[in-house]
Amino acid sequence: MVEYAINPWMDTNAPVDTELAVKQWEGLRETLVRLGHTVHVLLPEIGLPDMVYAANGAFSVDGVVYGAKFKYPQRAAEAAAHRRFYETLGWRYHLASETNEGEGDFTYLPAAHGGLILAGHGFRTEVAAHAEAQEVLGRPVISLRLTDPRIYHLDVALQPLDDANIAYYPGAFSESAQKVLAQLFPDAVVATEEDALTFGLNLVSDGRNVVLNSEATGLAASLRSAGYVPVPVELSELKKGGGSVKCCVAELRG
Ligand code: ARG
Repeated sequence: MVEYAINPWMDTNAPVDTELAVKQWEGLRETLVRLGHTVHVLLPEIGLPDMVYAANGAFSVDGVVYGAKFKYPQRAAEAAAHRRFYETLGWRYHLASETNEGEGDFTYLPAAHGGLILAGHGFRTEVAAHAEAQEVLGRPVISLRLTDPRIYHLDVALQPLDDANIAYYPGAFSESAQKVLAQLFPDAVVATEEDALTFGLNLVSDGRNVVLNSEATGLAASLRSAGYVPVPVELSELKKGGGSVKCCVAELRG
C-alpha cells in the first residue's frame, strides 16, 4: 500500500506488490553493478517508505555534501540517515537551512561551462536553497523553475547524459528556464511529454549506457539515434511512489 500521498503519482488506494518492488529494485542494483559501478546500499528504516528514493537525501560535489531538508514531514527523518552515511565516508557534510530535496532538484555537469550545477524549484526545493548550495559547494548554480505538478522534481524533467550534455523536456519548465536551457545546452536531447511522463528522463547515464525506465521506449529510441546505449529496467512498482531509476540512486561525487 502507498502510505501517504505527497505527489500526483501517489494513490493511497493503489495496491503495491512489495515482493515485485524489491525484485525490481534488485534488478536496478544488479544493472548498475554489471555496468561497472560501485553501489553502496543505504539500509531502509521502519516508517520511512520513501527512503528507497535515495536521490533525495543530499547532493555532493567534489566530496562536499549539501544535506537535504525535506519539504514534507513524512520524509524529514531521512536526511539524518544520509548524513551518517556521508560522515562514515569522511566527506564534509553541510546541514541545510533551506528546504531542498538533494539530487531530486540538483544535478552537476563537471564539463559544462567549467562545472555547472543545475537546480529546480517550484514544488519542493526553495529557490533560497540554490543560493545556499552555491555558497556551500562553490560552483555556479543555475535556477530553473518547474511548472508542471506531475514533474515535481528536476530529476523527472532533466538529467545529464554525460559530463557536458543533458536530456530534458522543455514543457516542464517556465518559459524563461526553457530559454536558459536552450542557451546553455544547444546540443541537448530534447524529450517529449510522453518521455517525461513515462519517467524516461529519470535516468542514470555513465556517458554511454543510459539506464532508464522500460516504459520510456520513445526516449530510448531518441537516445539510440543520438549515439547512446539505452539500458531499460522495469520499475513499475517504484513508479507508484512517483519515482524511477534516478530517484533510487544518489551519485557520490568524490
Ligand atoms: N514519493 C517520493 C516523494 O514524493 C518520490 C521521490 C522521487 N524522487 C526523486 N528523486 N524524484 O517525495
